Order: sequence, then structure tokens, then C-alpha cells
Amino acid sequence: MASLSVEKVSKSFGRTRVLGDVSFTVDDGEFCVLLGPSGCGNTTLLRIVAGLETASSGEIRIGADRVDPLPPRARDVAFVFQNYALYPHMTVFENLGFALRLQKVPKTEIHERVTEVARLLEIDAQLQHKPQQLSGGQRQRVALGRAIVRRPRLFLFDEPLSNLDATLRASMRVELAKLHERLGATMLYVTHDQAEAMTLGEKIIVLNRGSIQQTGKPSDIYHRPANTFVAGFVGQPRMNLFDGQLDENGTRLKAGGFEVDFSGALSNLGDAHRGLPVTVGIRPEDLVECEPQDAWLSGAADFIEDLGSDRFVHLTCRNLRLVARLPARFKIQRGDTVNLKADFERVHLFHQGQRLDRETAEA
Ligand SMILES: Nc1ncnc2c1ncn2[C@@H]1O[C@H](COP(=O)(O)OP(=O)(O)O)[C@@H](O)[C@H]1O
Ligand SMILES: [Mg+2]
Repeated sequence: MASLSVEKVSKSFGRTRVLGDVSFTVDDGEFCVLLGPSGCGNTTLLRIVAGLETASSGEIRIGADRVDPLPPRARDVAFVFQNYALYPHMTVFENLGFALRLQKVPKTEIHERVTEVARLLEIDAQLQHKPQQLSGGQRQRVALGRAIVRRPRLFLFDEPLSNLDATLRASMRVELAKLHERLGATMLYVTHDQAEAMTLGEKIIVLNRGSIQQTGKPSDIYHRPANTFVAGFVGQPRMNLFDGQLDENGTRLKAGGFEVDFSGALSNLGDAHRGLPVTVGIRPEDLVECEPQDAWLSGAADFIEDLGSDRFVHLTCRNLRLVARLPARFKIQRGDTVNLKADFERVHLFHQGQRLDRETAEA
């Protein structure tokens, strides 16, 4: 296994710039997730790392070796695609052993390695089956097995679970996490599914329009989004984001026809933020019901999605449309007025799209 280092990689197709100055590292043995909306450049980036595409500029290192001038075969990476094309005329055993056969690995060793991987992935009972005799989940495991059996320095995954149904996805997600623990392998994993990113990633890199928005642990990305893009992209239902204005004293926030004493949230922002236009972010689960006199926001419930344990309550609060995730014990009906506030610690403030950071403001 080895670390991966991507340095200032840019890519244009004709005049279209798809990646701009992307730099990041994946540590040896780390599970790193690239998360972004469709079209953000994730696949292009993986293909560049694998050598299937050439960067317009930038460098790629695996371990200490510069690999961007090398052909794919010489990079020692395994790529698992969304469309895991297995060879239909070959058995599972032959599919798993194919790359090793090409490498002229001795037969007995191929047998050992294939059997070991099949056992690890619990497809050892299917070794003599053809792909069409397998379930979707078993096929995906064979695709994984083909990568693992090669013992590459680096694994690249491009939305490998997106063709599976929701239940299978959830269980494969857990299996992948366990597999990573057992193999201790360096993995770079592309997804647009945030549940996958949050549960699998030791490090998450959020990409939008070909540039990195934030890199961090899942909890950083969720609890301290660096900008309004990350704030709105990560979290379901999405974070409520609305425009407001801080007053000159740095104590009150005006937003959407409401005015709230915000000194609790603003006191340690310092003076620099007084009078600024801001975007306020509050996650649906951070809005709590309260007495009318304590409310920051009040409005009528327009629509209620009942999930059993919780409800997503869609509200119109004067000029604002919000979603609150409230426990089912509140017996709210459509049309009822709901009074809401939040813990100041849970309020995110952004100026010109960028997080106003309380800790850095203090420092
Ligand atoms: N070979 C290509 N020629 C021209 N444009 C491309 C090519 N490959 C990808 N693109 C464009 O680059 C952008 C990013 O594509 P891609 O990396 O596949 O996105 P993602 O995997 O994040 O959905 C898209 O706008 C896509 O249309
Ligand atoms: Mg893609």
C-alpha cells in the first residue's frame, strides 16, 4: 500500500475547464471519499489518477513515485467502476484470476489468492458459477474481488454501489468499511451519496465544479461547513439557508422579516462582523419548538412528511421557507403555527459564501 498525492491537477476538454488546481493527499491506508454533485469532475479526477486520462497540468505521486508520466499498467492501481463489467463467459474463479493470469502469476498462487479473496468476500460457494447466475450484490463482490486479488498499491472506486438497490447498498456499505479495516488499503472512493461519504470516509473531499470546497473528517464537513455550498450539499433535508443582516452593535440579526437577539451567537465573533450581510444556516434537526415569546421564527406548517420517528415539517415563516425536523411527539397538523428557535452553537453564519468562524475570529 502507499499514499497518494495529487498536486495542482487541472484538466480542460477543449475550452471547458473541468478540474482547476486540485490538490490533496490520501494517507497510506486511508479511506478518502470524493463527494460532489454529478458533473463536478469526480470521474475525470479518478481517471487521471488511474492514467486513463491525461491531466492538462499537475503531478501525481503514489508513494514516492511520480506516476503521471506512466501508463496505467505501470501505476499499480485497481479501478472499480459503477458498471462492473464481468466477463460473462468466464466463471467467478476465472474472472477473479484473470488479471493474475495476464501477469503470468503461477497457477498455484493464483488458486491461493483467488480462494482467499473469495472467502473474504463470501463468494467462495459461487466460484464455479457464471456471472448471470449471480445476484447483483454477488456480482459487485466479484468486481471488488478482481481488484483486491491484484493487491494494488491504491484502490479507486467510482460509485461502485450506485447500481444496487437501497437495502443492498446499505449492507455493502458496511461490508466495504469492514473490508477496508481488514485490508488496511489506501482507497479513493467517488460518490454523490452523502450517507456513503459520511459512513465510509475517514477523510471527505467535497468537490464542486472542478474545485475543492472543503477537506476534512466527516464531522468537520457536517458540523463546520466551510461555505454555503458544502452547507447546502451535505445533510438531508438540506440546511436552511437564508439571508440576513447583522446590526451595527453586533447583537441583533434581521432576516426574513424577523429580528432576533443574536448576541449569544455573535459575542465572540469580534467587531469585524458588525453590520455585515450574512447567510444564516440552521439544520432542520437543530430547530426546536419553543414558547411563542422565545421564538426566533414562527410560521404555519405547510406540509408534513411523517417518517414515524420524526417529522419533516415544511413551514412558511413570513418571507422564509424552512424545514424543521421535529420529534413525532409534537402533534402538529397542517396549518398550525409552529414556534422555533435553535441553540446558538448550532447556527452557522456565512459572509459572501464563506463561513464566519468563531474560533478563528477569537484567535
Ligand atoms: N471526454 C470528455 N470530453 C468532453 N467533456 C468531458 C469529457 N469527460 C467529461 N467531460 C465533462 O467534464 C465534466 C465532469 O465530468 P465527470 O468527471 O464525468 O463528472 P462526475 O463524475 O463528477 O459526474 C462534465 O461536464 C462532463 O460533461
Ligand atoms: Mg462520474
